[in-house]
Amino acid sequence: MSESVSGSEQEHWSGKAAFILAAVGSAVGLGNLVRFPSVAGSAGGGAFVLVYFLCVVLIALPVLIAELFIGRRGGGSAVSAVARLAKAEGNSSMWSLFCWIGMIASFMIVTFYSVLAGWVLDFVVLSFSDLMSNISANGIGAISNGAFAGMDDEEITGQLGALLESPVKMIVMLAIFNVITVFIVSRGVKGGIETAAKVMMPAFFALLLVLTVFSIINGDAGSALSFLFKPDMGKFMATLSDGSILLQAVGQAFFSLSLGSAMMITYGLYMGRDQDLPGSARIVAVADTSVALIAGLAIFPIVFAAGLNPDGGLTLLFSTFPLALHQIPFGGVLAIAIFLMTLFAALTSAIALLEVAVAFADGDLNLTREQRKRRRLVWSVLLGILMFVIGVGHVLSQVPTSVQDNFFNTWTPLDFIPMFEGKTLLDTFDKLSGDVLLPLGGFLTAIFAGWVMSSSSAREEIRFNSERTFRIWRFLVRWVCPLFVGLVLIYAVIVAPLRAQMEARGSDAKQTIEEMAAPKD
Ligand code: TRP
Repeated sequence: MSESVSGSEQEHWSGKAAFILAAVGSAVGLGNLVRFPSVAGSAGGGAFVLVYFLCVVLIALPVLIAELFIGRRGGGSAVSAVARLAKAEGNSSMWSLFCWIGMIASFMIVTFYSVLAGWVLDFVVLSFSDLMSNISANGIGAISNGAFAGMDDEEITGQLGALLESPVKMIVMLAIFNVITVFIVSRGVKGGIETAAKVMMPAFFALLLVLTVFSIINGDAGSALSFLFKPDMGKFMATLSDGSILLQAVGQAFFSLSLGSAMMITYGLYMGRDQDLPGSARIVAVADTSVALIAGLAIFPIVFAAGLNPDGGLTLLFSTFPLALHQIPFGGVLAIAIFLMTLFAALTSAIALLEVAVAFADGDLNLTREQRKRRRLVWSVLLGILMFVIGVGHVLSQVPTSVQDNFFNTWTPLDFIPMFEGKTLLDTFDKLSGDVLLPLGGFLTAIFAGWVMSSSSAREEIRFNSERTFRIWRFLVRWVCPLFVGLVLIYAVIVAPLRAQMEARGSDAKQTIEEMAAPKD
């Protein structure tokens, strides 16, 4: 059955390397460059990194293999693939519901991911124009100056704040980023996604390599290593005892490897039958995890050498890091390199996120190549417009109320649900997708691959190199993944909000007691 369903009109990657570049491109993104270093730093350094490794190997990699397997065997779009496979196994096609969840999650993520990417684009422009004006004023020798040479410290760290106060600028950057994403996706799998990955990913790795070597040689590599790898048992035990370390590690692994969102199912659709599936999945997981660690080694040595505090994800990239680059020779050039590299990583991820929904629109097997092309163009543009409109809402939600009151910056759409209380549109989307939809999608993916799909179809499609590896994979996907991902889900949806409420009540009570005790005047 599996040979016939892929349909002769389905587009495919041109080869193994193309698939790997595109999949690594989707996985490597802001999650690796911004989220990982800050989560790792705050959740116990090396101890967290160790838990993260275990999560990648025991939970994320088996789910990644499951997603690629489902996509390649099913063909069509993620939704039709699952419906078809479920029916072939004598089960309800309602199972495809979990791809809907994934598709909605991917689309929600791309709306705010693009907003952040727009900020990165703005910083590419800022650092480039700063270097240019520096060179035109002081000659080519100025190339060895630190970043943002003409500014004082306050101006440098204030750049993100200034950007947030300028909605028009953010919207323009968002629009540019959205248009590029839509353009690439509209050109299809081979002509668009694959070509973009083949250009941007090698450039990304080259920039990362240069930056890391420079940073280790010129920065404080010792402090960076101990910050990232030396286990801080105090912090570790604190996060372990309230269970959040597991939540953070699994959540980060899922986000970083783009799992639970039907995305890897979608990229699996275009995978050739002759391609080594487990081997490719392993390369993607190793590459993604390495980039997360190497990014830390590129960023932190410079930050520590400048005597700065490596706090918070976004402040780290947009204000601490520029300040550190201000103080070192060639910082201006390095600033361009890091923001450009971040932009490439974000773009290949945004392309993947949008592709999930677009693939659904053009994945019908009965279309001719021409019809398919037209539908892809139309749907890329329509979804692109929707993505932009929601993105504008996100942008407005970030503008400080002291600058303007624009409805979105005071609107908390799901205020009535404890876990979304007090959250703006962007934060609601972030939390709903990351804490609820991705774990839910991942949970159902594992159940589907492990319990609904028969062992014989899995064995035949995945083709592990030994029966033993197959058995291990199947055990992980049937028991370990659903158990841990399910726990994460319960934690995020029930335990964390309850605890927050109790803490709030506790501090209310404390306040009341203090007020009663305080002498009245
Ligand atoms: N993995 C990407 C990152 O680390 C983001 C991303 C791309 C993603 N596609 C996804 C996250 C699908 C979740 C689901 O930045």
